[in-house]
Amino acid sequence: MVATTTARLSLTRRPRRLRRTEAIRSLVRETRLTPDCFIYPLFVCAGEGVRREIPSMPGICQLSVDEAVEEAAAAKAEGVPAVLLFGLPDEKDPTGSAAADPDAPVQTAVRALKRNLRDLLVMTDVCLCEYTSHGHCGIVDGDEIVNDETVMLLAQAALSHAVAGADVVAPSDMMDGRVAAIRRTLDEGGFDRTVIMSYAAKYCSGFYGPFREAADSTPQFGDRRSHQLDPANVEEALRQVELDIEQGADIVMVKPALPYLDVLTKVKERFGRPTAAYQVSGEFAMLKAAAQRGWLDEPRVMLETLTGIRRAGADMIITYYAREAARLL
Ligand code: PBG
Repeated sequence: MVATTTARLSLTRRPRRLRRTEAIRSLVRETRLTPDCFIYPLFVCAGEGVRREIPSMPGICQLSVDEAVEEAAAAKAEGVPAVLLFGLPDEKDPTGSAAADPDAPVQTAVRALKRNLRDLLVMTDVCLCEYTSHGHCGIVDGDEIVNDETVMLLAQAALSHAVAGADVVAPSDMMDGRVAAIRRTLDEGGFDRTVIMSYAAKYCSGFYGPFREAADSTPQFGDRRSHQLDPANVEEALRQVELDIEQGADIVMVKPALPYLDVLTKVKERFGRPTAAYQVSGEFAMLKAAAQRGWLDEPRVMLETLTGIRRAGADMIITYYAREAARLL
C-alpha cells in the first residue's frame, strides 16, 4: 500500500525525531561505552611459551608469564587500561599455601607486567580456591570453611601481591572481615596506596562454571553457598557492600553482571562509590556458544550487554570481551 499524503497526525512530540540519524542518536546517547572502563582477566600459569585455550571460553587462554605480558601489551595497545590476574599454581595443598608464594605465577606475572608495561594497571584476584587441593575458598574443617584463619591467609596473599607491585588487590572469597584484615596488613606493610576492590556482592552462581575449568578451582565436595550470596537476595547484598565500604573497600563489585543488574543499580545509587561489575565466564560462554552456532550476532550482543551493564550503574567492567569490544569501539 502506498502511504497517503493526506494522513497527518498533529503531534507535538515525535520521539522518532531524535532517532533518525546516527549523528543525532549519538548526541542524545546517555551511556558511553569506551575501552577505558574495561578490565581484562588473565589466567597465569607456570612455564614459558604456554598458551592453552580454555574449551568453554573460546579465545581465552591459560598463559605463562611471558605470554601474559604479550597479551596484556596487546590489550593495552587496544585501549584496555587494566588486567586482573588469576593464578594456576603448580602445587595445591589443603591450606592453599602457594597463594602467598612470592615465586608463584601471579606474583611473578605482576613483577613482569610492572617491569614491561609501565602504566598498565595490575589487579590481582585474592582467593584460596585456585590454591587449595579441595577447591574451597578457605581452610576446611569437616564441612565448614573456617572464617578467621582463612582471612589471615588471604591477607598474606594480598600482601604478597602488593609486594610484587600490584596496584589493586581484589578479594573474591566472601569471608567475613577480609577487607579490614587486608587493609590492616597492607598498611602495616607500608602499602597504604594499594587499592582494594572487593567482590562485595558476589552471588552463588551457576555462571562461574567455565571459570572453574579455566582456574581448576571446582570444589571437590559441597558448594559455595555458605559464603556466597543467595541469588534471591538484594537487601543482604546491600548490607554486604556497606560492610566492605566500612572496612575500607575503595571499589565495590557486583558479580555476575547480567542476572544482577538490579543489584548493580541499587549499589551505585545507595553508596555512590566506584562500582565494578564482572561479566563472568558463563555470561561470556553463553554468548560465544550462541554466536558460534550463528544464533546471535556476536559483536552486537557483546556491545549490547556491556552497554546494559554500564547503563545499570557500573563504572568499570571486568570482561573476557575486553579486547574484542575495545577493537569494535
Ligand atoms: C574465586 C573467583 C571465581 C570467579 C572469580 N573469582 C569463581 C568462584 O567463586 O567459584 C569467577 C569468575 C568467572 O566466572 O569469570 N576466586
